[in-house]
Amino acid sequence: LAGESLRSLAAKRDFLIGTAVKPQPLQDEPTYREVVAREFNIIIPENHTKFSRLHPERDRYDFTQADAIVQFAKEHDIKVIGHALAWFHALPRWVVEGNFSREELMEILHDHIQTVVDHYRGQIYAWDVVNEPVEANGSLRETIWYKTIGPEYIDLALRWTREADPDTLLYINDYAEGLNSKSQSFYNLAKELRQRGAPLDAVGFQTHVGFLSSDNSEEVAENMKRYAELGLEVMITEMDVPIDQFSGTPEEQLEAQAKMYQDFLKVCLDASNCNTLVMWGFTDRHTWLTGFTGSKDPLIFDKSYQPKPAYHAMWEELKGT
Ligand code: G3I
Repeated sequence: LAGESLRSLAAKRDFLIGTAVKPQPLQDEPTYREVVAREFNIIIPENHTKFSRLHPERDRYDFTQADAIVQFAKEHDIKVIGHALAWFHALPRWVVEGNFSREELMEILHDHIQTVVDHYRGQIYAWDVVNEPVEANGSLRETIWYKTIGPEYIDLALRWTREADPDTLLYINDYAEGLNSKSQSFYNLAKELRQRGAPLDAVGFQTHVGFLSSDNSEEVAENMKRYAELGLEVMITEMDVPIDQFSGTPEEQLEAQAKMYQDFLKVCLDASNCNTLVMWGFTDRHTWLTGFTGSKDPLIFDKSYQPKPAYHAMWEELKGT
């Protein structure tokens, strides 16, 4: 690979290229560790900064596994993104079944954000403050936060995060990348937050291509532009591309997958307000899609940690040849 990695090529153009990581293979598989350290300059704990993992009981926090990930990042000079402070999934039973009043739930969310963000103060590049806040029909998603606290839970969560760590980038995150009713809702939300003066710096495009997200990179480029006009950065936060959405021979499928990764990377590199692309894992050995949908092989290294055509396509794109 001519001595260059995705990471070294990205660094030359001030670009952040990343992956979600899991603590188990990080501990158990030397190759997993080596590839992360060599290829990426930013990581997101795939599950271990979620509410249920960090805050399993009302009066108990558990930072053990998230700390291990942050420590690994520190040793390798890798930036860390925290995901996700207010979401409707990955909530512990005590929150879901607690039957809390508005005041109580506000106190719970405030305490959670304050404690977690303060614990990692100065060590987190960006916080995913509110994950998946919108519905396709233009309204806010009716999560427990929304139903109990009201729509202002988003403004509050952003404000509390900024108070706990003034130097980290704050974003809301969703699968709303293309041009459709859902991405319109997400855009409207971001615009209103900016107009109200909420501390919002960026939006995340999850980019689970062909599954939750658009596969139309031209629409994604268009969409990025309107966020630039609002003064907002866009980060690609969870990209993966299941192979079985493409027809043809296995080789043709791998080529189509490679082209998709390359096209999305190019959209981000070309945009004035995008400098981060994080994938939802990097090896087909460890992907959330196994067991969820039956979709296959969505990442850029195969199960034996060999680079796939998608890896080479991204490499070429970053090199700029
Ligand atoms: O670790 C436990 C294991 O100990 C237990 O035996 C097993 C039995 O169910 O569960 C394991 O935890 C699972 C975990 O993934 C680890 O693989 C959870 O049940 C499962 O809910 C969890 O799913 C995660 C999901 O978010 C829900 O939090 C996926 O890994 C993760 O990839 C997925 O990521 C989401 C983003 O956060 C938001 N955007 C969409 C994306 C894909 O759904």
